[in-house]
Formats: sequence, C-alpha cells, structure tokens
Amino acid sequence: MLFQLLTESSFFLSVLCVQVPQDAQVLTQCNSSNIFDGIIPQGYKKAVAPSTGDKEVDIYITLQIADIYGLDEESMDFYVHMYFDDMWRDERLATKCIQRARPIILPEEVAENLWVPDIYFENSKWGEMFKISVPNTNVKVMQDGMIYRYSRYVLQISCPMDLRFYPMDIQICSIRVALFAHPDDVARLHWTNDLDSPVKDIDAIVLLSPVKLPQFKLSAVNTTEHTENWNTGNYTSMIAKFTFARHLTSYIVNTYIPSVLVVLMSWLSFWLDVGAVPARVTLGVTSLLTLATQVVQSRSSIPPVAYINALDVWLFFCINMVFSTLVEYAISYYISFYKTFDGKCLCFPFQRCTGNFIKKTIADQSNAVSSKVSWVSSEGPTERLASSSEKQQKILGSTVSSTKCIDKISRLIFPFFFLIFNIMYWPYYLTFSTPGSD
Ligand SMILES: *[C@@H]1O[C@H](CO)[C@@H](O)[C@H](O)[C@H]1NC(C)=O
Ligand SMILES: *[C@@H]1O[C@H](CO)[C@@H](O)[C@H](O)[C@H]1NC(C)=O
Ligand SMILES: *[C@@H]1O[C@H](CO)[C@@H](O)[C@H](O)[C@H]1NC(C)=O
Repeated sequence: MLFQLLTESSFFLSVLCVQVPQDAQVLTQCNSSNIFDGIIPQGYKKAVAPSTGDKEVDIYITLQIADIYGLDEESMDFYVHMYFDDMWRDERLATKCIQRARPIILPEEVAENLWVPDIYFENSKWGEMFKISVPNTNVKVMQDGMIYRYSRYVLQISCPMDLRFYPMDIQICSIRVALFAHPDDVARLHWTNDLDSPVKDIDAIVLLSPVKLPQFKLSAVNTTEHTENWNTGNYTSMIAKFTFARHLTSYIVNTYIPSVLVVLMSWLSFWLDVGAVPARVTLGVTSLLTLATQVVQSRSSIPPVAYINALDVWLFFCINMVFSTLVEYAISYYISFYKTFDGKCLCFPFQRCTGNFIKKTIADQSNAVSSKVSWVSSEGPTERLASSSEKQQKILGSTVSSTKCIDKISRLIFPFFFLIFNIMYWPYYLTFSTPGSD
C-alpha cells in the first residue's frame, strides 16, 4: 500500500517535473498570435526534402476507404472514395511553440510553403480532391516535427481484368501510390503498419464501411510494394490489393440452369418416334435458337475479349449437345431407310450387332407411300398391311428396331457425356479460378 502510494506520487511528481518547465517555456515565448509565424524558419527551402544526412525521409501512408463502387468489366476500372493520410518528419520546422499531444493545424498559406511528398496514384485514370466547402485537406504539425496530412479524394482506378474464368473469376484490383519525382534515397514511401514503422499500430488500409458491390464480394485486402530500378535511382510504389470474387448465384439462376433445361429438353427427342419429323426437328431447332440467344446475352455484359471464358465453354458445349441431338436424329432417320440382313441387329449394350446394313431398295419412289404405311402400322396394335409383301414387312420391322436402337443408346450416351463434362467443368473452374491481374 505504502509502496503503491510512493510509486504513484513519484510518478505524479515526475510528470510535474517534466511538464512544468516545458509549459513555462512555451508560455513565456509563444502566444496565439505568433504561433504559426515561427514554424517555417528563415531559409527554409520548400524544394528540398527533409532528409537528414544520408537518411532519406520516410513517408508513412494510410488509405481509409470510404467506398468502392462502379467496378466494371466494360471499362475495366473502379471508383474509390477515400481519405488519404500521409505522415513524415520535417526536423527543420521550429515546433517549440507546439504543445505536446496537441498538433496544430497549419493554415493554407503556411502549409503551401512546406515541403510535401509529391504523391500520385500510378494507375488512376481520373481523380479529384473534394473542394466543398473548403479543399478537403489539412496539414497538422506535431511537437516532434511529425507532419500529418489528410486529404479526401475520389479516384477512378484502372483494373485490367482477365475474364478467362468469367463468371467464376476472381479479380485483383490495386491502387498504386508512388512519389512522382523523388527516388528512394531522398524520400521513401512505407505503409504505416510496416515492421519498422514508428506508427505501426495504425492500419495501412482501413475500410470505413463494408464494401458492397452488386457483382462482387471484397474477399481480401492486402498491401505490398514494388521497387523499380532506373538509372536515376530506385523508385518504390506502394500497392494496395483488393481481391474481388464474383457472386455466382445470378449466373447460376439466369444462365446455367436455363441452359441445362434446354439441353434436357432437346433429349426428349430420343423418346419420340423416328417418323415424327416435325416434332423432333422443331425440338432441336428451338433448343438451338434458345441457346444462341443465351450466348448473345452472355456476351453483352463483358467486353469483346479475344479469348473464350468459362461461360462460353459452357454454352458452346450445350449448343454442341443440342446440335448432336439433331445430327443423331438425321442419322436415325436416314438409317430407317436401311435394313439389316438378319433383322436381329441391335446395338450395344442391348444386343450384339452382327448384321451388315444394306440399302433398302423396295422402299424407294414407287413404293415409298406403301412402305411408310406399313412401317407405321408395324408399330400399331392392329397390324394392317397396306400393299406390301411379307418380306417387305420383315425388312421394315428390322429397320424400325435398329432405328429405335440408336435412340435408345442416345438416351444413355448423351446424358453420360453431359455428366462427364460437368464433372470436369465445375471442379476445374471453381478450384483453379486464379486472380486475373495484380
Ligand atoms: C506574442 O509574442 C510576441 C513575441 O514573441 C510579442 O511581440 C507579441 O506582442 C505577443 N502578443 C501577444 C498578444 O501577447
Ligand atoms: C491477404 O489478406 C487476407 C485478409 O484480408 C489474408 O487472409 C491473406 O492471407 C493475405 N494474403 C497475403 C498474400 O498476404
Ligand atoms: C537500387 O537498388 C539496388 C538493389 O535492388 C541497389 O543495388 C542499388 O544500389 C540501388 N540504387 C540506388 C541509386 O539506390
């Protein structure tokens, strides 16, 4: 108890001992009317960076992101509304009139005589500092010569995107900050949370509110830096990387499921009779047209890139499936004019195919009508032969069975291929979707 009291009082005393002489000094020399005048001393050179000896001036930067919006594939850019903070030390300033922990805000006419980092945003296409009702920037000076500058900007940042995995793509967009003229040995940028930063408890990137984009989810924010070596010196730029993952739900609902349904619909053709020409052709052609419309629609929301994306691959395969259905029908229709020798040729996996096809000669031209009638009637419950011989009926019967057999196989083969395609497509695009750019 006594010990605690002693230590507490000695702490209090020590605070007083440090505080009192300093405050007294401040009070005797400084007053509110001369506080700004002395800060920038005589002979201060605005153009000279405040590097001390061989040591470059370290500039620590922080991005406070208020909003990210307008991320767009068409123009490949996005907008960011942010507060940009940079801080550095200028030991040439006369800061003795500034009280500890009470930084002063420099008026514009004083601040404009100060050396400030020539910050620029390397990959911005456009940008503006807010000016309503006053320029949204201020410069604060601390007693130890630390200078803090805050500014509010809106920037249009370029973000080249690789759309190979669209719509399962992950895009990395970055904001690159650098000094326009100063090489690293004069002035060097750092993130505030760098390991050797004096202000490392300040986050380098702060999201002031959750970023909500209609198409993307902001999945990660990382900071990094990149140095380029030139013969005039090395130049380091700070890179803030934003990783955006696209929301897939709307694509599943609007494109993937409808296209699957169209493909499934086209398979109905295999359950229809070979003779149902209008029905089967219409089914195929309608499916093909529906998918073609979807291809056009899917292409309308992304720029006309030279490569094919994941959605293209999908729709191309669906179109292929439907097209194959039409081809299958053409083949099975054509084969219905052929017959087998033994009449027992059916196909794998139902029966082994042993016979050879030969051209059916009886059914051409003159007998076409009669053969058609008999062919239909062989299907029906009441077998009524129009005007064909016993032999002809036999031939037709076998033709019908081999034709049906192609349909039967297709009922299995087509879904099988579609399944295989799905098994390859989804894992590939979902697991290997790599960030498109940086
Ligand atoms: C403030 O201090 C300066 C000297 O540093 C003196 O000339 C001036 O009169 C003072 N002003 C007031 C209001 O005390
Ligand atoms: C990027 O940041 C995220 C968190 O926002 C973190 O999980 C991830 O490990 C970081 N990646 C790298 C390469 O630093
Ligand atoms: C630039 O960096 C390289 C190493 O990356 C170093 O060898 C070189 O001395 C640097 N140049 C200057 C001018 O600092």
